[in-house]
Amino acid sequence: MTALLEVSGVTVSFDGFRAINNLTFSIGPAELRAIIGPNGAGKSTFMDIVTGKTRPDSGSVLFGDLSRSLLKMTEAQIARAG
Ligand SMILES: Nc1ncnc2c1ncn2[C@@H]1O[C@H](COP(=O)(O)OP(=O)(O)OP(=O)(O)O)[C@@H](O)[C@H]1O
Ligand SMILES: [Mg+2]
Repeated sequence: MTALLEVSGVTVSFDGFRAINNLTFSIGPAELRAIIGPNGAGKSTFMDIVTGKTRPDSGSVLFGDLSRSLLKMTEAQIARAG
């Protein structure tokens, strides 16, 4: 099964503070997943990466049947892609 969303090895730092460290996560087409964690765990930062608001320092984010890289798309393009 091809993943709908495939996040691999994503790391994000803000002024040297590592908010997300080597995150790998995937969702299949018929899956529903919940992201939980304490305040400051990086949940919103994770969603900001998927939607294009924040760019990671490293890693990849692939979406859809064609495995398009969301990191090469603008926020508007990501929204239009669904
Ligand atoms: N723009 C930013 N500049 C500096 N630090 C940031 C920025 N955005 C997030 N952080 C830091 O990154 C870490 C992760 O924050 P994030 O908001 O992703 O956590 P969260 O899991 O959504 O928390 P909450 O449950 O409070 O919503 C926190 O330590 C936060 O202070
Ligand atoms: Mg949050």
